[in-house]
Amino acid sequence: MNDILPGESSAWQYLEDTLRDVVQAYGYQEIRLPLLEKTELFKRSIGEVTDIVEKEMYTFDDRNGDSLTLRPEGTASCVRACMEHGLLHNQVQRLWYAGPMFRHERPQKGRYRQFHQLGVEAFGMSGPDIDAEIIFMTARMWQRLGLQDAELQINSLGTAAARAEYRMVLVAWLREHEAELDEDSRRRLQSNPLRILDSKNPDMQSLIEAAPKLPDYLDEESRAHFSELCDLLDRAGLVYRVNPRLVRGLDYYSKTVFEWVTDQLGAQGTICAGGRYDGLVEQLGGKPTTAIGFALGLERLLALLEAGAVELPSSSPHVYLVLNGEQGVREGMVLAEKLRASLPGLRLLSNCGNGSFKSQFKRADKSGAEYALVMGDDEASQGVLMLKPLRSKAEQEVLSVQDVENRLAGLPGVS
Ligand code: HAM
Repeated sequence: MNDILPGESSAWQYLEDTLRDVVQAYGYQEIRLPLLEKTELFKRSIGEVTDIVEKEMYTFDDRNGDSLTLRPEGTASCVRACMEHGLLHNQVQRLWYAGPMFRHERPQKGRYRQFHQLGVEAFGMSGPDIDAEIIFMTARMWQRLGLQDAELQINSLGTAAARAEYRMVLVAWLREHEAELDEDSRRRLQSNPLRILDSKNPDMQSLIEAAPKLPDYLDEESRAHFSELCDLLDRAGLVYRVNPRLVRGLDYYSKTVFEWVTDQLGAQGTICAGGRYDGLVEQLGGKPTTAIGFALGLERLLALLEAGAVELPSSSPHVYLVLNGEQGVREGMVLAEKLRASLPGLRLLSNCGNGSFKSQFKRADKSGAEYALVMGDDEASQGVLMLKPLRSKAEQEVLSVQDVENRLAGLPGVS
């Protein structure tokens, strides 16, 4: 679990602002959800035999003896909230949420026990058009952030019935090859055989390659849905790879699933993942409601921005106000408020706590400010200020109190 320190938070804000602009541009509305839910909710939605539920949840009994869990993801909570507040009756919903999620995983680069997701969920739309919209939205996010090189992988898991049939075929085939399975896969053969296809064990790869493939067992409806989706992606010129082994680690998916993967982050290369979960609302006690969504990992996106040296907008002050002498401090503090009132875009950092000119200029430099604006007793009595560039060799300027506002209004990003 990481602290996000002052030097890092502006990159987070930039990322969050940019992503928020994109989801809002597609007409999605924010939903804010609690960090805790009843444990039962995650067991019933994510699935009893998934890694998340089996070994990664932070679960405890509260004072009433109810079992609660820190949310490991947002989809289950979002569905629960929509059902509880009647948001799914005869209407469609396009929703998004963001915040921390908790999984007790083995920590490594790009994998944390508290991490942050931005998630999107769309309810009540069954066609491949909404699948395409959701995927276009993720591509738009990368474009706005200046990220290239992530690969879009897609697959269809079919309807629950088709998957059950495939599961039987796969289990029968794997049983014939049981001697070649590693321990983990042998365990999964009972509980969650599809996840065997996801194994990263190099010794298992040739066996997995040879196993029956899910796309060969797809039902007609899922096949048509998937091919229409591919057609929409093709028409938009979005490049993707159909990965028949993409199965996802949560149980609620059906039909379309997708992941955006990069090779720039080492082992934890999935920056965004999601898919359709048409059966989940009903499974949790609601009316049958189709749904699709995704979540992206903010830590991984930030690491990718850094790896690509994407330049983030500055959040340093435009101006550091150097204040000296009794009159200088008094008049300077009042002027600072006037400037903040008339120039809302101005980032102005006032020196507080006195200090020599030398030490104030040191602080000004450390703050990252572009300019120092100096008001000492001399300046105060003459009704002027000095504007000194801190990052260029440009000349300093003497400005009257009246002129300061106009001069600062002309700085990039102020108005
Ligand atoms: P997920 O694949 O478990 O899906 O997580 C989505 C993304 O969250 C991952 O691709 C990754 O970027 C990030 N992530 C997951 N675990 C960690 C971790 N331990 N540390 C850092 N980042 C992590 C879901 O959570 C689904 N709820 C997505 C969804 C929404 N499907 C439909 N709607």
